[in-house]
Amino acid sequence: MNADGRTRLNQTPEWTALVKHREEFADTHLRDLFAADPGRGSGYTLQVGDLFIDYSKHLVTDETLRLLRELAAATDVLGLRDAMFRGERINTTENRAVLHTALRAPRDAVVEVDGENVVPGVHAVLDKMAGFAEQIRSGAWTGHTGRRIRNVVNIGIGGSDLGPAMAYEVLRAFTDRDLTVRFVSNVDGADLHEATRDLDPAETLFIVASKTFTTIETVTNATSARTWLLAALRDEAAVARHFVALSTNAGKVAEFGIDPDNMFEFWDWVGGRYSYDSAIGLSLMIAIGPDRFREMLDGFRLVDEHFRTAPAESNVPLLLGLLGIWYGNFHDAQSHAVLPYSHYLSKFTAYLQQLDMESNGKYVGRDGREVEWQTGPVVWGTPGTNGQHAYYQLIHQGTKLIPADFIGFAEPVAELGDELKAQHDLLMANFFAQTQALAFGKTPEEVRAEGVPEELVAHKTFRGNHPTTTILARELTPSVLGQLVALYEHKVFVQGAVWDIDSFDQWGVELGKVLAKRVEPALTEGAEVPGLDPSTTALVAKYRELRGR
Ligand code: F6P
Repeated sequence: MNADGRTRLNQTPEWTALVKHREEFADTHLRDLFAADPGRGSGYTLQVGDLFIDYSKHLVTDETLRLLRELAAATDVLGLRDAMFRGERINTTENRAVLHTALRAPRDAVVEVDGENVVPGVHAVLDKMAGFAEQIRSGAWTGHTGRRIRNVVNIGIGGSDLGPAMAYEVLRAFTDRDLTVRFVSNVDGADLHEATRDLDPAETLFIVASKTFTTIETVTNATSARTWLLAALRDEAAVARHFVALSTNAGKVAEFGIDPDNMFEFWDWVGGRYSYDSAIGLSLMIAIGPDRFREMLDGFRLVDEHFRTAPAESNVPLLLGLLGIWYGNFHDAQSHAVLPYSHYLSKFTAYLQQLDMESNGKYVGRDGREVEWQTGPVVWGTPGTNGQHAYYQLIHQGTKLIPADFIGFAEPVAELGDELKAQHDLLMANFFAQTQALAFGKTPEEVRAEGVPEELVAHKTFRGNHPTTTILARELTPSVLGQLVALYEHKVFVQGAVWDIDSFDQWGVELGKVLAKRVEPALTEGAEVPGLDPSTTALVAKYRELRGR
């Protein structure tokens, strides 16, 4: 039993039924599933907005999907979904509502937190961001010396970096190419150095992005950026023209010396990793313009509405979440690969790592007890075709089961020249070939029929049976990006709901932060740190020796 009297997940009849189903499934091969149902290729597909989802290459039957939906019903995933959309405090360990969906609600929507409609506030900030973004883009906002701003440097980390940095890359073709936009996150001084070394301070705007405005990396980098600026402009008043803040913490922003008028607000009901469609997206909005940013929000909203209203049978985030559970909990899969066939999506998987792993990397359930089932997978991947020449060998012939998402687009980005556009079919030929090879493999008979010597047959055989989801859209637009991100946000939600964990806190990152603060004086001053373990003490001593201290 859970502390609240509910049956523990792995003791529910729905879970037990899936265990049994998995045993019966045994060695069923995707080749068998396709042989039994040739219509599967077109039947196991769904459309949400611009995204065409093919899940035919999964180790599932209608029965599997039914049993998985029953597990979702037993764990009241859709009830929790409704509570989230209603603004209930479903982030119980932090006693907060979870309302990233309100960030993309239409102007006339009503979403209440504690009886207050938050939507007007959301749109007031979006309007303020749009006004500021237009001023930067038009040159109306000038730096302290009257020069136009040509460089924008976002300083933030985690959710205050990965989202805008990812989206800026994804939508590069939609950006103002005359603006230089960079992202600094690492407390390694090299990051800020490389981002600013060729910039003119008089033409540079720093956006300090931090929900809490207490994150040591961000505050340290922002302080160094201010020093860099003032070394050149030699007037404290310059800070007001060259620094803006994105935060929920007005007090700390003012303490840092940023004019509260230059702060773009968001709220505690927006999790950091769910925040780039809030004020945290200001750098992106400056780069692509307010209209494109709003198109992106429309894309998010489209998938929100789908998740909120589509029946369970055709609800794509529900399906993707449940497929992950099928592999993670019933096939012992440890990881999940996301493999976009678009160079512009080069940072997409890194963004999803925080979204998924910070949300669902938990071994304590909502009731405070340790779970007895696997939770979030290791999420990883890089764009194809590069990965094919690096680690796909392990996916094809390694000993691990690695379910994967393949994301591709029918059209190359419009601004490519004809010759580069022509390469797109080759890119996508690889995209389709990989999911085929992963699913169907190559039998020893097929290998022998090619005249391969007997001693090499085993080496050249591909077992196949590797499950993949194909996500295909016509083209990569701001709206499509919003749709993709919302899809993964809600998939992560579904999984956390089934596993009965709080997907919206992140206590697991606190200990390292606390210890770093304690260890720092040992490095700089050789101070005694009480409670430092012998291994770390010796390493600190070695570090000081190497630094000649
Ligand atoms: O340490 C983890 C974390 O709290 C993330 O959840 C968050 O996105 C990141 O740090 C940055 O936090 P902030 O925006 O408050 O600087």
